[in-house]
Amino acid sequence: MKVPYQIQNLEQYHRNYQKSIENPHEFWGDVATHFDWHEPWNSVVNSDFSNAKTTWYEGAKLNITENCIDRHLEERGQQAAIIFEPNDPQKPSQTLTYQELYDRVAEFATVLTNIGIQQGDRVCIYMGMIPELAIAVLACARIGAIHSVIFGGFSAQSIADRVIDAEASCIITCDGAYRGNKEIPLKPVVDQALKLCDTVSEVVVFKHTGSKIEMSPGRDLWWHEQVNEIREAGIPWEDPASVDAEHPLFILYTSGSTGKPKGVVHTTAGYMVWANYTFVNVFQYQSNQVHFCTADIGWITGHSYILYGPLSAGATTLMFEGIPTWPDAGRFWDICQKHSVDILYTAPTAIRSLMVFGDAPLEGKNLSRLKVLGTVGEPINEEAWHWYNEKVGNKNAPVVDTWWQTETGGVMISNLAGITPAKPSYATLPLPGILPALMDENGNLIQGNSVSGNLCIAKPWPGMIRTTYGDHQRCIDTYFSAYQGYYFTGDGCLRDENGFYRITGRVDDVLNVSGHRIGTAEVENAINMNPQVVESAVVGYPHDIKGQGIYAYVILNKEVTDDEAATTLRVQILETVTQVIGPIAKPDRIQFVSGLPKTRSGKIMRRILRKIAEGELQNLGDTTTLLDPLIVDSIIKGKL
Ligand code: WT7
Repeated sequence: MKVPYQIQNLEQYHRNYQKSIENPHEFWGDVATHFDWHEPWNSVVNSDFSNAKTTWYEGAKLNITENCIDRHLEERGQQAAIIFEPNDPQKPSQTLTYQELYDRVAEFATVLTNIGIQQGDRVCIYMGMIPELAIAVLACARIGAIHSVIFGGFSAQSIADRVIDAEASCIITCDGAYRGNKEIPLKPVVDQALKLCDTVSEVVVFKHTGSKIEMSPGRDLWWHEQVNEIREAGIPWEDPASVDAEHPLFILYTSGSTGKPKGVVHTTAGYMVWANYTFVNVFQYQSNQVHFCTADIGWITGHSYILYGPLSAGATTLMFEGIPTWPDAGRFWDICQKHSVDILYTAPTAIRSLMVFGDAPLEGKNLSRLKVLGTVGEPINEEAWHWYNEKVGNKNAPVVDTWWQTETGGVMISNLAGITPAKPSYATLPLPGILPALMDENGNLIQGNSVSGNLCIAKPWPGMIRTTYGDHQRCIDTYFSAYQGYYFTGDGCLRDENGFYRITGRVDDVLNVSGHRIGTAEVENAINMNPQVVESAVVGYPHDIKGQGIYAYVILNKEVTDDEAATTLRVQILETVTQVIGPIAKPDRIQFVSGLPKTRSGKIMRRILRKIAEGELQNLGDTTTLLDPLIVDSIIKGKL
């Protein structure tokens, strides 16, 4: 029996789940028949976790943009594919129908080919949340170029690191972007980045803010001029490339517990199937609904649930350029009302930041269209969950708490809206195909319910990470070595008496600040670049709005004597971090210390620093193994 593409009830969920685990070949073979292929696959899945080698739909050929655009034209050519809501509510919103999206993507794909971009080339994209960002991404995919979107908040140094790692030959950017009452320069940051790396030969610039920028002749090209050029020359639009199922679709850099961010690679067919299947099932998408995911396309959430998931399903996806609190804290609700949003997908941090304003911003807003509410990015506290459910959803719209990661491509553990039960602060049950496993400290599988451990995944799934770009060993070491035969997520997790999963947060040295993933080592490296810093240690602490805040303990080469000097230094350190990573990694608290709690072998005891940052000064545990136990008292005395 064929599996239903969209699960309709609880019983079907259980039946589908069982089938997906028992017979993944048949299950995912059936699901894949819902897409357009140039060539069929020879085998559905082949996997060897010990070498981090997995393929899905091997032998098949396809183009993902045909699945996201072309195949909808007949039925949905005049339906909105993308609604763009600009930062400034006074400016008109824009709509791109599927036909218009087709035209613009096919045309810009031809521009890319015309300037020499070929299949397999890496293209970095550094833009604001405007329709052209979606067009640039899709145009890359159309010609088989590998896109690597860099979040607009990252610094020149971070761009350079990513360009170098990906050996990118082209950057697509815009002059600037609007965020709230600020105008953010983008092209000038790219200019700075390109002083630090030399692989890039073309920079394509879309004019958005109209602010004055410099164009470097021979390297920098105006988007509109390139489009005009192919129009005037009458160059016909390219046919979409026919790529292998396992052709890399994109690289997305993400932080780990060590070193520089790694380039998570997703490939074409498996990612497409996963993004689509999870979108349709988790949100229970119905034809013609408007889907508003508030993430930035610079993160995986935007890739999967602004672009590839909704578009492959023929949905209307809403792109918002601005921020939830400008011009006021009612902005999301205005947008939901104005565009009759059916599905809203946002982050707990956004919910908490809006809760602070109370109910007033919601008053008078018609949110009756909202049918499904989603959250992602970090554990959601019960208070925020209830506020979202009651005030935003009027208890009429199921809340889906979706757990997943950059590496997983799409949602892994979540209730299915209105189909499987919700439980506040629980991601609940795994999606079909996902077999979670909890491990104890000794690497043993924990059986049964009412248990907790480190969360692993025991079987391959279509959207899983394929490699870390340019360094496959790093992929093996990071994800497939801690527990033989399992993918390790880095998250702690509990399974309740009913088998529902609750993610409790990272168990490695990775912070989750406002849903952004930041490695403590990365922040430390950045802080240490300040010439006055000798050493630093960074930990997370509970933060009411951000989920986690960044607490930095810093040793200086010269002690600061007065408050004014300390303030100046703090500002300088924040500037250093902004320059090296970007404003998202700025510590919330910087405490100057004379030493750090280290073991005799020189290892920093972060457990102690974490407890102090959390304000838990009583139970610091065993400090006798420290090289200098007295240092702990002096750190406690200086606690901020
Ligand atoms: C980490 C992944 C997935 C897109 C956004 C973040 C945390 C994510 C949840 C959730 C509890 C969550 C985990 C995970 N996380 N969703 N629903 N409940 N924690 O992607 O930057 O790759 O971060 O975010 O700790 O490992 P990411």
